[in-house]
Amino acid sequence: MSTSINLAVIPGDGIGQEVVAQGLKVLTAVLPQDVKLETKEYDLGAQRWHRTGETLPDAELEALKHHDAILLGAIGDPSVPSGVLERGLLLKLRFAFDHFINLRPSKLFPNTATPLAGRPEIDFVVVREGTEGPYTGNGGSLRTGTPAEVATEVSINTAYGVERVVRDAYERANSRPRKKLTLVHKNNVLVYAGHMWKNIFDKVGQEYPEVTTDYLHVDAATIFFVTQPERFDVIVTDNLFGDILTDLAAAVTGGIGLAASGNINPTGAFPSMFEPVHGSAPDIAGTGKADPTATILSVALLLRHLGHEDRAVRIEDAVSADLAERDGTFRSTEQIGDALAARVAG
Ligand code: NAI
Ligand code: MG
Repeated sequence: MSTSINLAVIPGDGIGQEVVAQGLKVLTAVLPQDVKLETKEYDLGAQRWHRTGETLPDAELEALKHHDAILLGAIGDPSVPSGVLERGLLLKLRFAFDHFINLRPSKLFPNTATPLAGRPEIDFVVVREGTEGPYTGNGGSLRTGTPAEVATEVSINTAYGVERVVRDAYERANSRPRKKLTLVHKNNVLVYAGHMWKNIFDKVGQEYPEVTTDYLHVDAATIFFVTQPERFDVIVTDNLFGDILTDLAAAVTGGIGLAASGNINPTGAFPSMFEPVHGSAPDIAGTGKADPTATILSVALLLRHLGHEDRAVRIEDAVSADLAERDGTFRSTEQIGDALAARVAG
């Protein structure tokens, strides 16, 4: 457990700025007196790119390395060509800091809207591989722009990369009351990568006799996310399947305003980065309509990662209590932040 937190803050674009301000407010309120919080803000994102043409200069990448963790709002704007900031900033950070765990908890909190009938119990966490799969930029195109264009986008799967994420998922499953781990892949069609994932999953599982295991093809998993979400506890999956499944998970558990995430390097070799799943929402930026709860729940993940489990739980309990009392009356970004800061203080 750290007695000081040296936090890098990347507010980013659009509502990123608005929600991060509330995240920091709650972080300050929840920390015990004897934990010193230092923050440094980094100006990265669409505005910076428009101004200077830079996405993530080496000097800033180097400076970011020396923080204990990173809190990120959202990056992006329709005025920037697709891919520039995703590859040049977000993915660059994930790869440079070897964020091989992309953690996305999904919980259906009381009194929140779900499109699912019958309000099933939903409380699971997706452990998505973060550094391999089809997201490594291993591809290219030939005869580009002609009717004979050829494009490849190769999915990279290494035994090393799979084993470390699978092991992390077993550890997480083992520490939860239900101790259940589901592997999601598509090993009936993607046989080479799929069989390697399954073999490693089975092998590592021998070290965790108390964890119950299950396997689902990704298409079947999407059905069960909707028809039987209560069957899941911890899910481990590859980068692409995890990206898609976690958006579905957010949709069935009260929406994007509540979905938190962590890009984690469990070894501690580089800082981990915590962010809401949502983007910069240019359609509501500046209106005070952005819900900061996803960012505040990401702060809880950050605190848990740094060893402050009790403070993480305090934030999650405050969110639960706050949501239970929401009655549909409009509250601004700041009002929600103030209410949660007041609940966690003391
Ligand atoms: P988005 O998540 O920004 O917005 C989707 C919809 O959800 C919008 O209607 C928005 O108003 C609403 N929404 C999002 N967050 C909300 C919140 N906290 N409270 C209430 N409503 C919320 O996704 P979109 O529109 O596809 O992307 C907008 C920009 O954000 C793009 O430039 C995109 O590249 C970027 N983006 C960045 C991400 C990141 O920084 N990790 C992730 C996703 C998108
Ligand atoms: Mg996504």
